[in-house]
Amino acid sequence: MRKIVFVTGNAGKFREVKAMLEERGIEAIQNKDGYPELQEDDLEPIAAYGAKLVAEKLKMPVMVDDSGIFITVLNGFPGPYSAFVENNLGNPRVLKLMEDETDRRAQFKSVIGYCEPGKEPVTFTGVVEGEIAYEERGTGGFGYDPIFEYEGQTFGEIGDEEKNKISHRRRALDKFLEWLD
Ligand code: IMP
Repeated sequence: MRKIVFVTGNAGKFREVKAMLEERGIEAIQNKDGYPELQEDDLEPIAAYGAKLVAEKLKMPVMVDDSGIFITVLNGFPGPYSAFVENNLGNPRVLKLMEDETDRRAQFKSVIGYCEPGKEPVTFTGVVEGEIAYEERGTGGFGYDPIFEYEGQTFGEIGDEEKNKISHRRRALDKFLEWLD
């Protein structure tokens, strides 16, 4: 069975990627080594840098996933700072920030970075468009899922199986797997 080492400490990301790769007959192996995240406005250089660093350190091909939520009316905030905002403010504070906003548009973005030792990293981007809900709904998923609405339901409400069919991560992973083939 083909194996891919996925460097992430995020249990939600790993659970999703593992399920999606399994469908394709690929085993995902979690590595929790971590890597320093560059401070950049875009996710692509963060994912590329991380993948390169870990591939050279472990001397094996690795994939990483750098992702975030970009809220249109907030000029893309929290974007690359999504992890910091989630850990320090959380969904209730994000909803508070959006309280008086009628433009609820947001994007989830996932960038998969892949690198083999001695080679340059490559990145694959997946985006899904949705809206910020007015309150948290649903207990599925992780992170921002309960406040991200897609076609009337939040990612927290639809559950992993449905989310994995249409998510930003699915779209990025499909591009990566096509390239890998
Ligand atoms: P990073 O990719 O480790 O920089 O973290 C991205 C942040 O966005 C973390 O707080 C994640 O929990 C959150 N996040 C990434 N992908 C998703 C998702 O699919 N659903 C909900 N939150 C996500």
